[in-house]
Amino acid sequence: MKKKVVAIMGSYRRGCAVDSIVDEVLRGAEESGAEAEKIYLDEKHIEFCTNCRACTQTPGKDPGECPLKDDFREILSECLLADALVIGAPVNFYNINALTRRWLERHVATAYWPWRSRGGPKFRNGERSRKAVLVTASACPAIFVPFATGAVRALKAAAACLGAVPVETIIAGLMGEEPKPVVPKKILAKARKAGQKIAG
Ligand SMILES: Cc1cc2nc3c(=O)[nH]c(=O)nc-3n(C[C@H](O)[C@H](O)[C@H](O)COP(=O)(O)O)c2cc1C
Repeated sequence: MKKKVVAIMGSYRRGCAVDSIVDEVLRGAEESGAEAEKIYLDEKHIEFCTNCRACTQTPGKDPGECPLKDDFREILSECLLADALVIGAPVNFYNINALTRRWLERHVATAYWPWRSRGGPKFRNGERSRKAVLVTASACPAIFVPFATGAVRALKAAAACLGAVPVETIIAGLMGEEPKPVVPKKILAKARKAGQKIAG
């Protein structure tokens, strides 16, 4: 059976840095025989988490039920059915952009965290059975992104909530100089390889 790779595209811009890299990861995955699906977060209806924590109250392995009715649950199901994930978001104001963060916060449903419990949220399902490629882009040089911004940490948190282990983190720096940034070939080649890796 074909492996399924699901990409979460959290950037607003089509054909720009994050989108181009995500596409290249998917190309690599498809070349290696996987089936690829790309979800654009800005085409989905995703409400803000209100911190009500209703979804965290009942125990069990499956994500809790959120009272908000939107597309989040469907996206979550797609991700949990996938063999591998690609999660992409740009660096905006020292972190992932608001659109991706809005999606990320809703993953509190993947934790059991009842009121009056000590020690904070616990992953309902500790298994990390899928692989992930994390993608981000910034105006600053790539080398600064992991320690001068929270973007990689946030992308890692998303992977963890979705039971995925990051096998590659692709950062395209210096992407703020042109209205339509051109991603260096070296980074695209790394992205393609990463796609082959997660599909293999
Ligand atoms: C509102 C906004 C905030 C940004 N904040 C940062 C930042 O804090 N650090 C940085 O290095 N780049 C920052 N950038 C630059 C973007 O990360 C960069 O243009 C990136 O290529 C956008 O991704 P995209 O090409 O997929 O649209 C910001 C851009 C915008 C529009």
